[in-house]
Amino acid sequence: MTDVAIVGAGYVGVPLAQVFADAGRSVLLVDRDSERVASLNRGESYIDDVPSEVLKRLVEDGLVRATTDYDELRDADAILIALPTPLSKQREPDLSIVKAAAAEIAKRLRPGHLVVLESTTYPGTTREEVLPLLEASGLKVGEGFHLAFSPERVDPGRSDWTTKNVPKIVGGITEACSERAADLYSSAVETVHRVSSPESAELTKLLENIFRAVNIALVNEMAQLCERMKIDVWEVVEAAATKPFGFMSFKPGPGLGGHCIPIDPFYLTWKAREYGFYTEFIELAGKVNENMPWYCRSLISQALNHGKQLSLKGSTVLVLGVAYKPGIGDMRESPALKLMELLHAAGATVAYHDSHVPELEDLDLSSVPLEPDEYDCVVVVTDHPGIDYEALVDSSAVIVDFRNATGEKGRVSDKVWKL
Ligand SMILES: NC(=O)c1ccc[n+]([C@@H]2O[C@H](COP(=O)([O-])OP(=O)(O)OC[C@H]3O[C@@H](n4cnc5c(N)ncnc54)[C@H](O)[C@@H]3O)[C@@H](O)[C@H]2O)c1
Repeated sequence: MTDVAIVGAGYVGVPLAQVFADAGRSVLLVDRDSERVASLNRGESYIDDVPSEVLKRLVEDGLVRATTDYDELRDADAILIALPTPLSKQREPDLSIVKAAAAEIAKRLRPGHLVVLESTTYPGTTREEVLPLLEASGLKVGEGFHLAFSPERVDPGRSDWTTKNVPKIVGGITEACSERAADLYSSAVETVHRVSSPESAELTKLLENIFRAVNIALVNEMAQLCERMKIDVWEVVEAAATKPFGFMSFKPGPGLGGHCIPIDPFYLTWKAREYGFYTEFIELAGKVNENMPWYCRSLISQALNHGKQLSLKGSTVLVLGVAYKPGIGDMRESPALKLMELLHAAGATVAYHDSHVPELEDLDLSSVPLEPDEYDCVVVVTDHPGIDYEALVDSSAVIVDFRNATGEKGRVSDKVWKL
């Protein structure tokens, strides 16, 4: 028997497996990617937050195992679903992966199973989409099996707040479902916070991500006004953050990245339409944030124009940092991709340096050595640690800094253009 099976061995599934295994529970990771499964079974981690030495120990102790075979779910007490929930090309929720997995689980559902959906999604998914698929097995929720929603709130790359110590929100279809799910998580994570329904739990996660998207948009709009008013937005945000209450600091940047913030809010926008409701804050935030790569391209163009009397066409540009955030190699939805595409389309020759991202298959590029003096302009898109940004100012002809990485030196140097 396995205590916990986790379907989807990605950024969410693998750390979740570690937390349960650390608590002494046996964990089975189910993934359709046979290379990932083989790698997990060798104790080799591809997720930065779970080091290979930790995974290897858990595999050797028989606490973590991986498989591509859904049939093994029959022997698990609980089945957690941590699968992707992307948007379609038309920016509508694409639940096909979750629904296909739920149908596979239904074929193996047995009395006593607990199923928990962890994937981020709109309110109503667990009850309207997953429940009917599971009940097609002939078992009834709350009696034959239990079903709940519990969002994952992990922030990959962070070490202070992890899957273990971020409170876990749990909302079951029935009271018994909530209790069962809360008991399971309490055995491994520090705090469990119960809400009255899966819908509340689903919306909690979306509210958190919408809050971030809206506040980032606000500060991105402020950055654009500050540029016209010749005010340093970074100085203003830093000063406002000294207020001990009522203000939370968000930084401007070249656009949203990652699996969550650019995508999740639109799950709610779509669902709200069913109620004749328009989520205007989400739309407005999306509009401001999605425009940032275009705005950033215009800043680079100005910097080349004023700094070297060059146009984008024919210039050489080195993009420094392409992952969507510092310290990791995650490229999902990274604004660097859009910005590089725009620079290329404007006629610039674009190269990039990022030690976390050796290859960029989408653009058919590889990371080049950091030789700033070889380029007309250096653009800091992601401020990875381990780079001497002060030395970068000295050795570059023109720098456009979207992250305030060049700090005080960048503030006073006439080579540096900041967002
Ligand atoms: N990454 C984050 O920071 C984060 C944080 C909180 C919540 N979430 C949410 O958690 C969910 C999972 O995200 P993730 O980042 O872990 O995704 P991921 O892409 O890192 O991992 C998903 C895994 O599922 C596997 N997979 C895909 N289809 C499958 C199938 N049919 N059967 C079995 N395995 C399959 C893939 O091979 C992959 O290993 C999403 O809803 C996401 O929004 C993500």
